Amino acid sequence: MQELDQLEQEWLAAIAGAADLDSLDKVRVAVLGKKGAITERLKSLGQLPAEQRRSAGAALNVLKDTLTAAIADRQNALHVRALDARLAEERVDVTLPVRPMTGGRLHPVSQVTDELVAIFADMGFTVADGPDIESDWNNFTALNIPPDHPARQMHDTFYLPPDANGERKVLRTHTSPVQIRTMMAGPPPYRVIIPGRTYRSDSDMTHTPMFHQVEGLVIDRDIHMGHLKGCLLEFARAFFEVDTLKLRFRPSHFPFTEPSAEVDVGCSRRGGELKIGEGDDWLEILGCGMVHPKVLENCGVDPTQYQGFAFGMGIDRIAMLKYGIPDLRSFFDGDLRWIRHYGFVPLDLPTLSGGLAR
Ligand code: DAH
Repeated sequence: MQELDQLEQEWLAAIAGAADLDSLDKVRVAVLGKKGAITERLKSLGQLPAEQRRSAGAALNVLKDTLTAAIADRQNALHVRALDARLAEERVDVTLPVRPMTGGRLHPVSQVTDELVAIFADMGFTVADGPDIESDWNNFTALNIPPDHPARQMHDTFYLPPDANGERKVLRTHTSPVQIRTMMAGPPPYRVIIPGRTYRSDSDMTHTPMFHQVEGLVIDRDIHMGHLKGCLLEFARAFFEVDTLKLRFRPSHFPFTEPSAEVDVGCSRRGGELKIGEGDDWLEILGCGMVHPKVLENCGVDPTQYQGFAFGMGIDRIAMLKYGIPDLRSFFDGDLRWIRHYGFVPLDLPTLSGGLAR
């Protein structure tokens, strides 16, 4: 007994003196481990005469509990101490000024998308989106492009294998199906822009199988072509940052609009250099029109009560024009040298008041 009291004092001192979790564990193994001092003593109880075995066993078990509890306490204390040390070491001063970003750059497609959202949000538009994999109905039929319509050939569609019902989904060939989704989701009025990925089986200097479009849709009781022209003029002047930019609306045809138009911006190509906003030349940037009554009907919107306009344009294309990027395929090569040259500093958020791009 005397001996156990002394051992208890020694072991408690060793536990209290363990400076870190590793040394504490060594003490634990030495005392309570498979070959530890207490374990060995418990094993040798069998050799004692029966009358001593009982009391010696009880005393050993009490000591074992005391030591186990002391080790757990010490472990907790060391954990807290380790955490405190780490918190002190990893402390950050959030009031320090931001260090200049030297690494990452925003892709021109992300930049131009942010610019478009900033411009149209200022005119009261909200952003809508939809999935890349679309039903044939949303991508074509509801947009007044029935199964045998020639416009389907022009879209170079990627079809998915037929599902259990024989339906073939498509990779959306334009963002226009989100017009359908928007109108089906709730009653008019609508004023949305829809940036997103689109797909066509096509590849050259100005076409890639995946590209980006932005779609606009405005439907209300008294919307007319004047609103369409005003809205697009305001957009184009803000986007190209030329207050005197001229627009030209040329008659065109899209199955989902009537009348339809293509829009050109004024430019010059003098000396082989494209300059937007000066000169007497024209450059096409988008398609638009008044939403066809059949499209409204297909979405359960009454065309005798509601009307409006839609437009669609290629984000990559207007990014190339605005920032003078020659080859569309380079957008998706993942070349770091390219993104360092053409990319944007992420902290410069485009706003109309602060400037779109710096
Ligand atoms: N969806 C057309 C395309 O991909 C672009 C377009 C033209 C969208 C006219 C429209 C529109 O909403 O009114 O070629």
